[in-house]
Amino acid sequence: MKIFLVGGTGFIGTNFLQLALGDDHFDEIIICVNKRKPSVSSPKIKIHTPCRIDDIKTLKIDKNTDYIIDFAGIIKETRDKKFERVHHEGVKNLLRVAHETGARGFVYISAAGVDGTRDEAYMKTKWLAEEEIRKSGLEYLILRPSIVLGPDGDFTKMLKIMFKLFPFIPVIGEGNYKIQPIFVGDLVEIVRRGILQGIKGTFGACGPDAVTYKEFLKMIKEQLKIRRPLMHIPVRLVSLFAQLGGPLSPVTGDQLKMLLSGSTCKDSKIFTLVSYAPKNLEETIRISFLS
Ligand SMILES: NC(=O)c1ccc[n+]([C@@H]2O[C@H](COP(=O)([O-])OP(=O)(O)OC[C@H]3O[C@@H](n4cnc5c(N)ncnc54)[C@H](OP(=O)(O)O)[C@@H]3O)[C@@H](O)[C@H]2O)c1
Repeated sequence: MKIFLVGGTGFIGTNFLQLALGDDHFDEIIICVNKRKPSVSSPKIKIHTPCRIDDIKTLKIDKNTDYIIDFAGIIKETRDKKFERVHHEGVKNLLRVAHETGARGFVYISAAGVDGTRDEAYMKTKWLAEEEIRKSGLEYLILRPSIVLGPDGDFTKMLKIMFKLFPFIPVIGEGNYKIQPIFVGDLVEIVRRGILQGIKGTFGACGPDAVTYKEFLKMIKEQLKIRRPLMHIPVRLVSLFAQLGGPLSPVTGDQLKMLLSGSTCKDSKIFTLVSYAPKNLEETIRISFLS
């Protein structure tokens, strides 16, 4: 199978790439390289660069490509990366070239909570991207994970620094908002099996345990054997900094809103469909934070 991999240099994309390289079903992997270079090399890999999904002129997909896998995304807008352009326009562009070249399938990583009712730009543009994919006529697999954890993930790395260096562990508000993390290795395994088994549809892709953010931090503390206290930062204060923006602001207004809304899955059908059981949260934290 020949795949065109977008976002193959990011956290989830790199983990998928490593998995796909060890699987003989995937014999050619073309990576759309924007800024970062892939951290692995193999005779199976071909690099396509410059490649920006929000610039259709840079997208060239070979005629006999089977699947397009889109792991590209942003969590915060920058001067040259906007949600509408990367999530929505990017997917529209990829679908256009998919049709022109006759690709069969499309995989997309959306996010838990995306349902067409949310007004944060991240959530709204993920929904618009999903809708484009659903009406494309391609065989599609859309997965909606909550937080994805793994030793090489930015969120894990940020928490590791906090646990190592901070005299206390900051929690925004009471920390009672729920999350349902999945181990990155489990997420990419579902993608691999989903493609090979021809699974189609939109599915939640969360780990088995939904916990409050405060419980999550306590679980990490226990595993790392750290005694430092949690310190609650009032939501109003964080919100004020978010409105001011700039380097002093730890989160944007939208990120704060998404955090406080919680992030859990409504369904777990995908695991039955692909016959795979994801790791529980304790194991996920152990692998992510202790390796
Ligand atoms: N990590 C999580 O906890 C989580 C949770 C839910 C959903 N997701 C979704 O899962 C996907 C992957 O997340 P991740 O954590 O792996 O993100 P990541 O580490 O930030 O990687 C993002 C990837 O997208 C590429 N990219 C961004 N803009 C692009 C553009 N215009 N054209 C081509 N490539 C572009 C980046 O390459 P360059 O840096 O070179 O631009 C990078 O390879 C995203 O859609 C994200 O929203 C992630």
